[in-house]
Amino acid sequence: EKDKELIRGSWESLGKNKVPHGVIMFSRLFELDPELLTLFYNKTKCSSSQDCLSSPEFVEHVTKVMLVIDAAVSNLDDLPSLEDFLLNLGRKHQAVGVHTQSFAVVGEALLYMLQCSLGQVYTAPLQQAWLNMYSIVVAAMSRGWAK
Ligand code: HEM
Repeated sequence: EKDKELIRGSWESLGKNKVPHGVIMFSRLFELDPELLTLFYNKTKCSSSQDCLSSPEFVEHVTKVMLVIDAAVSNLDDLPSLEDFLLNLGRKHQAVGVHTQSFAVVGEALLYMLQCSLGQVYTAPLQQAWLNMYSIVVAAMSRGWAK
């Protein structure tokens, strides 16, 4: 219950500004693992990662990711209700060539964004609360890879 309060409280402000926060998160992700950029765009299309980060496809995907996080925060009391949606979402990511191992890096990027955006409000218990929720989301998405 404490976890839920921490997550809801911190998302209240971030959720109002989804795109800029999502851009921080994915910029960090591509810094940590530049190879992931190639899953969105072929190398020739983006000469620099800066090009990619400002492209409409990228911003669209960032928006989609933030809406999934928003849905998870809104459904904290009943995350299993998102199970089918997340499993299908996992399937779609398998189809575009994402590996489940990459979700660990995505988690790091998520925490980085929270830390940047929340400043002093970012505490160890808050970090743990987000990690717990994120791991539930990732576990559900990862079931999309099962044969
Ligand atoms: C779709 C890549 C992580 C949510 C896509 C697409 C690509 C992609 C290439 C298809 C094109 C598009 O719709 O923009 C990646 C990569 C990721 C990643 C490389 C990191 C390793 C995530 C995460 C979430 C997410 C963590 C949410 C928690 C979505 C959604 C769609 C999507 C909602 C649209 C699916 C649909 O069309 O129904 N992703 N993604 N993605 N992604 Fe991701």
